[in-house]
Amino acid sequence: MMRNSALGLAALMVSPRRLFAEHHPQSPSGTSPMLTPFVDALKIPPVLTPVMRGKTRLYTLTMKAGLAKVHRDLPTTVVWGFNGLYPGPTIKVVKGEPAIVRQINQVPDHNVMETGHEEMDGMHPAVHLHGAHVHPLDDGHPREAIAPGGFRDYHYPNRQLATTLFYHDHSHGMTGLHVYRGLAGAYVIEDPAEQFLGLPQGDFDIPLMIQDRLFNPDGSFHYMLDANTRETGVLGDTILVNGVVQPHLKVARRKYRFRIVNGSNARIYELQLGSGQPLIQIGTDGGLLPKPYPKTMIELVPSERADVIVDFAQYSPGTQVILRNCATCTDRTAYVMRFDVELPGAGDAIVPDCLAPWEDLPVTDQTVTRQFTLNRMTTPGGTMWTINGQTFDLNMTPLAQVKHGAVERWRFLNPTNHPHPVHIHLIQFQVLEINGVAQDPSQHGWKDTLVAPPGGSIVVAARFEGYTGRYLFHCHNLEHEDLGMMADYEIVP
Ligand code: C2O
Ligand code: CU
Ligand code: CU
Repeated sequence: MMRNSALGLAALMVSPRRLFAEHHPQSPSGTSPMLTPFVDALKIPPVLTPVMRGKTRLYTLTMKAGLAKVHRDLPTTVVWGFNGLYPGPTIKVVKGEPAIVRQINQVPDHNVMETGHEEMDGMHPAVHLHGAHVHPLDDGHPREAIAPGGFRDYHYPNRQLATTLFYHDHSHGMTGLHVYRGLAGAYVIEDPAEQFLGLPQGDFDIPLMIQDRLFNPDGSFHYMLDANTRETGVLGDTILVNGVVQPHLKVARRKYRFRIVNGSNARIYELQLGSGQPLIQIGTDGGLLPKPYPKTMIELVPSERADVIVDFAQYSPGTQVILRNCATCTDRTAYVMRFDVELPGAGDAIVPDCLAPWEDLPVTDQTVTRQFTLNRMTTPGGTMWTINGQTFDLNMTPLAQVKHGAVERWRFLNPTNHPHPVHIHLIQFQVLEINGVAQDPSQHGWKDTLVAPPGGSIVVAARFEGYTGRYLFHCHNLEHEDLGMMADYEIVP
């Protein structure tokens, strides 16, 4: 394997461009090779080491091609990754202590037309820290792309609730392709004040980034925008966790905390334990829930996160517990990963009844309500996706101007037959209504993504504060996003 990697890297340096070209199959409608599930061990991405400057952590990441072996029976393949890794290294920071992440753009030159894209300019990477409360210039807006060979320093104050965020490419019109190639990683904000809660820590606190991919026979990732994927987004037929196809994880008879990130372009998961044991959800996109909620099933749309506790203490050694995806209980995407209860119990943790304080946002009859319609548009080039009838434009007039500090209610209508995971940058919102039914916001927790169901609607509320300037909101089906379903909003003094 070492030999293979060395050879692969040599080939890569000669001509990165050829590799994708050669791997491009003739027919866009393929199926991956059948792969035996649970043969490979779960990989836990390395935690990136910072250089400290006072309390500020300085990190450097290089976006570049690399090699990944995602399953025992698949050859090593070329990916794009932060530091060449798929997925990228985990960044772990402490609440209230700033970090500066230098992102260097060394992604190879490539022919996007082979992926069904038209040739376009300005599709260089921009790195977005999803869910973060940051200045507009540090938010990875595609207008602020990083030129080839260049770099950008992103400043992250980390003054928000401790939670799991993820960083990913946000390039103009190419986010789906770049993320699919591997440009995504987890970013965890830890709060020392949470220590006393007694939740699982260290080796028992594990990020799980779930993605789906379609493989060419040679193991390369198959990405194609065509009439079909312009509608559905790009879906794989094989599930990976942390870059490994349906892995297994040896666990001890005790509690674990899993920080689950749906890093898929378009797939929605319904996560369930095969044993019937509930997943104890303790956190959402933006932080801890006020109290833990045992759930037999957790739905996770693209970019949503669920922080869950699983207690393996009740299983006898040798038990295998499968994490299933019941959105598709029958096909090959039905299995996500397997927990093998093997190791002796190693201490334990607790799940306290109270996790975090909660306060509903002050929403009254006077609160401004905006309405956004998520729709499709047919063009000679194929389906495009719109918000209030417009497709995204780098120089667009913002669809909303929000007064700094205001609490607003945003209603999203979805008259289409596709679910649209609505994501708003900068803020975490509360969920007020789904399909006309009033919600208890505390049960949903702090969210930055919520799906607008087909033919339905959602209403969320947020306080827009901290910075002024332009931010994005969009559908996090990455192909819908790339094909127009994104807009600027502006916070004004
Ligand atoms: Cu994770 Cu603008 O997105
Ligand atoms: Cu975001
Ligand atoms: Cu959408």
